[in-house]
Amino acid sequence: MAQTKQRCQAGWSKMLLQVLILGIAALNRVHALPTSASQLVEARQYYPDPDDPSLPPSPEDCLRLSFSEPAWSIYDPALLSVNASDGGTQGDIRFYTRNVATGQHADCRVTNIELNPKGAQLETWYNCNITDLQFQFLLDDFQVRLRGGWKCANSDLKFHGHGVWEEPTVQGCLEEWNTPRGQETLCIMGGSYVAASLTSPMELQPQWPLLPYTPFERAWRCVDRSWDPEFTVHNLAYQQHVGSYEFTLDVENHSNGQRTVCKSEKVDESKLPIDGSTPWVKCSAGNASLEILLDTTYDILGIRQEWKCTDNVKEIEPEDYRATGLIEARLECDKPADGSQGDYYCTLPVGSSPLTFTGYPAVDKAVLPPFPHTFYNRSCTINSISNTHSLTLNEYRIETTENGKLAATFGFYNPGPGETWKLSKIPVLGDGNWHDCIRGQEELPWQLARCRYALDSDGQSQGIRFELAWYCDDRDPSNAILFEAHVQADLTQNSSVCADGVCQFPPGVTEVALQVTNLRWETGHGVMQKGPTLPWV
Ligand SMILES: *[C@@H]1O[C@H](CO)[C@@H](O)[C@H](O)[C@H]1NC(C)=O
Ligand SMILES: *[C@@H]1O[C@H](CO)[C@@H](O)[C@H](O)[C@H]1NC(C)=O
Ligand SMILES: *[C@@H]1O[C@H](CO)[C@@H](O)[C@H](O)[C@H]1NC(C)=O
Ligand SMILES: *[C@@H]1O[C@H](CO)[C@@H](O)[C@H](O)[C@H]1NC(C)=O
Ligand SMILES: *[C@@H]1O[C@H](CO)[C@@H](O)[C@H](O)[C@H]1NC(C)=O
Ligand SMILES: *[C@@H]1O[C@H](CO)[C@@H](O)[C@H](O)[C@H]1NC(C)=O
Repeated sequence: MAQTKQRCQAGWSKMLLQVLILGIAALNRVHALPTSASQLVEARQYYPDPDDPSLPPSPEDCLRLSFSEPAWSIYDPALLSVNASDGGTQGDIRFYTRNVATGQHADCRVTNIELNPKGAQLETWYNCNITDLQFQFLLDDFQVRLRGGWKCANSDLKFHGHGVWEEPTVQGCLEEWNTPRGQETLCIMGGSYVAASLTSPMELQPQWPLLPYTPFERAWRCVDRSWDPEFTVHNLAYQQHVGSYEFTLDVENHSNGQRTVCKSEKVDESKLPIDGSTPWVKCSAGNASLEILLDTTYDILGIRQEWKCTDNVKEIEPEDYRATGLIEARLECDKPADGSQGDYYCTLPVGSSPLTFTGYPAVDKAVLPPFPHTFYNRSCTINSISNTHSLTLNEYRIETTENGKLAATFGFYNPGPGETWKLSKIPVLGDGNWHDCIRGQEELPWQLARCRYALDSDGQSQGIRFELAWYCDDRDPSNAILFEAHVQADLTQNSSVCADGVCQFPPGVTEVALQVTNLRWETGHGVMQKGPTLPWV
């Protein structure tokens, strides 16, 4: 093995020399091969540095990377083909890979194969030197396909992924590509990084969050600046009233250099969307109007606006522009300390004001990249799959109402999404059968995609089972995953006391662990249609 590698390396140095000697003359021909060097990289997308760290990631990092960035880095690739100019499609392909999550290296090589598989030949995959990693090469499309499975230490999860290395860059060939029949052509290619889609434990095409940034320099023309929209919020004053809120915003539009102080309309909180989403609110100032999204639960500030540029090349460049920007903006509030309901006032903290951020241009309509609804950093997906062994029941009260029916109040902490959900005075039946949760005093939490319960109530002990489902979309905003947990609790003497038609926790008990007996998940739910959109956190 080592010998082969040495020989190979020696061969490659010699070859490199020849490549140099062949020099520029060969370059044109080399270019006849697909040489697309750069992938289409969304300007605002943050990609991790695909550098090969020499140490394998820790087990936790392995798990995180498997869900966030399943990929293989490819190094030292080379292609040898025979009689290529005469349509010959026999040859060798070889490269080394490193699984980004596990840090495991593999040697993938095969000699004398049909480089242009068709039909049934496409079923043939070649093994790399480690178990569960296979590849294919397609000369026509100039593609390397990889598929494989891996595990992280300390975890039972088995990951399966596949990826395509499209149009590997050819750095140089030993001979000219169009060599006479019977000759071999060896080409070395640039290393690469093949992002994988997961097929197991769930179907995912992980995406890194999109981050706003502050540009280094500002274009001179309004038109050019408008393609790279940027906002500065100089001041934000938020006024909370009982049941409503309003705000004023001092914002500078860098596309045309104008500064506007706008005042929002008053937002009636009882008319907020029940899907948990935050509305875009009109904010006007004289003849200018912009739309603002202010989510004080998730600390998100969004600006959406339209403007005109008069320095456009008429008939060629558009005059009308439109952009959306979103940023995390934590407000500082003078909330009443006793938690009582009342008016209060919030502003941007001195340290984060003025707040400058870039937006996303949209000339025809507001096109935004897909944003997740569940937090990226504290991943709902990863925690739901690896951390949902039990839920915590932190509120519990079953009471008999005036008309003799039962009403139940439950609060659950779910470590998956990291949220607490409250079912407030929902009407229940104590017959031990499964029923859908129905809204009670308040709407059911928007996070609940499904909610069913079975309550076995004999007036003393309470056996409760729940079926709760929720979405996570932080790793793949285009494809939400639906999790469903079966949860059960036996609320016996120690955790429940019933008196005067009311069952609740006995004094001193504030929470009870609910065992998750079955956790399932399914993919293919498309874009999540509920809740706030969380741009990058
Ligand atoms: C496979 O090849 C890689 C890269 O050369 C090497 O590090 C690894 O030890 C090999 N594994 C096996 C099982 O041969
Ligand atoms: C390449 O061409 C030579 C000469 O025609 C022929 O002998 C040889 O079999 C060809 N090899 C392949 C792999 O097609
Ligand atoms: C807004 O009104 C002012 C004063 O009437 C005018 O100078 C300015 O051009 C207007 N701005 C826009 C964007 O129409
Ligand atoms: C940005 O510029 C446009 C064009 O003049 C204007 O209509 C819009 O109100 C400006 N927005 C702000 C916040 O200044
Ligand atoms: C989220 O994680 C990224 C990368 O690890 C880090 O740079 C960023 O500060 C984190 N953001 C928050 C809000 O914790
Ligand atoms: C209730 O608590 C007592 C004392 O703390 C304990 O001995 C008993 O096993 C508990 N019963 C149940 C059903 O958990």
